[in-house]
Amino acid sequence: MQKKTLSDISVKGKRVVMRVDFNVPLDDNKIITDDKRIVESLPSIKKVISDGGRLILMSHLGRPKGKVNPEFSLDPVAKKLAELLGSPVIMAKDCVGSEVTAQVLALKDGEVILLENLRFHSEEEANDPDFSKQLAELGEVYVNDAFGTAHRAHASTEGITHFIKTAVAGFLIERELLYLGKALQEPERPFVAILGGSKISGKIDVLENLFKKVDTVLIGGAMVFTFFKAQGYQTGKSLVEESKVELALKILDEAKKKGIKLLLPTDVILTAEISADSSSYAASIASIPENMIGVDIGPVTAEAYRNEILSARTVLWNGPMGVFEIDNFAAGTMAVAKALTEATANGATTIVGGGDSAAAIAKAGLSKEITHISTGGGASLEFLEGKELPGIAALND
Ligand code: 3PG
Repeated sequence: MQKKTLSDISVKGKRVVMRVDFNVPLDDNKIITDDKRIVESLPSIKKVISDGGRLILMSHLGRPKGKVNPEFSLDPVAKKLAELLGSPVIMAKDCVGSEVTAQVLALKDGEVILLENLRFHSEEEANDPDFSKQLAELGEVYVNDAFGTAHRAHASTEGITHFIKTAVAGFLIERELLYLGKALQEPERPFVAILGGSKISGKIDVLENLFKKVDTVLIGGAMVFTFFKAQGYQTGKSLVEESKVELALKILDEAKKKGIKLLLPTDVILTAEISADSSSYAASIASIPENMIGVDIGPVTAEAYRNEILSARTVLWNGPMGVFEIDNFAAGTMAVAKALTEATANGATTIVGGGDSAAAIAKAGLSKEITHISTGGGASLEFLEGKELPGIAALND
């Protein structure tokens, strides 16, 4: 990696201000329903503690829009972190101000404080220099381990680096860049990418960037219907991006010219309405009735995609194959998830971009059987689009 990391600096006796992404899902009882982002932050946290640093953790949670809102307090996260560490975590009432400064200055070697939600201050998202400076002054060195927020140029990710000399990446960011970066730069071949999701417009930049590297692309999700429309098929009531029909044709053409094998489904799952109790059936893409909606790839396609996945040495997956949140329409997405685990067992490197595909793998209970699942939704997408992530670009070279 081109950036300095936590391994390159000494933290003993120093105040280490560390940006993490503890933006985790909570249920109505404020129970964390997926603690992956906290767990994945532990290596950096434990390193600072065991090296005798004084750790100041900061994060956002949700989108409280610059106002204090107890709904979005990081309190449940502090409790979860203390449980995972088996040692106390002090919860601050705010992230800046005299009380916080006093608490931070009173920290002893190896102690941990978690600051309250950064987004209770509008200055965070505005990347306000004064606010960035106040955050910087809490620490002597800065570590960014918030991969999930690295695509945001906010005060705690980008602004802060202008006010603190030592600004390095944590181990989570290092690991994300290792896997996502290797896939884009020097993938072991064959390299198969699976792209899903509802809209071509949301994935076009990823497709364009992957076209430089990939051998095969498997397409799923509602965006297939825009391709089908472009090819002259009837798509019924399925989601079609009318303004992207031309683009779909261009993509098919470009793949052909570049010698990339681009596969679209040959069968799909159809239903009359997108609801849990609506019945569904598999049909060829050439026979989609007027009143039906496509909600998943069909079994023939799932098997064909499985075979492609099993022939790969590197597999990258971003975006579900259908409306996987509804069990009746989840089979295609689950088949892809299962195929990835088989590929991993066969020695392939399997990488899942965060967000929905990561949620689908978690739902199937298969997370441990994948080489790398990104903690970033938007961040991994932007990385795969080839964009520079401001939170990483700002760190010491
Ligand atoms: C995420 O969950 O993708 C990150 O924490 C960023 O959150 P945001 O989209 O609200 O900036």
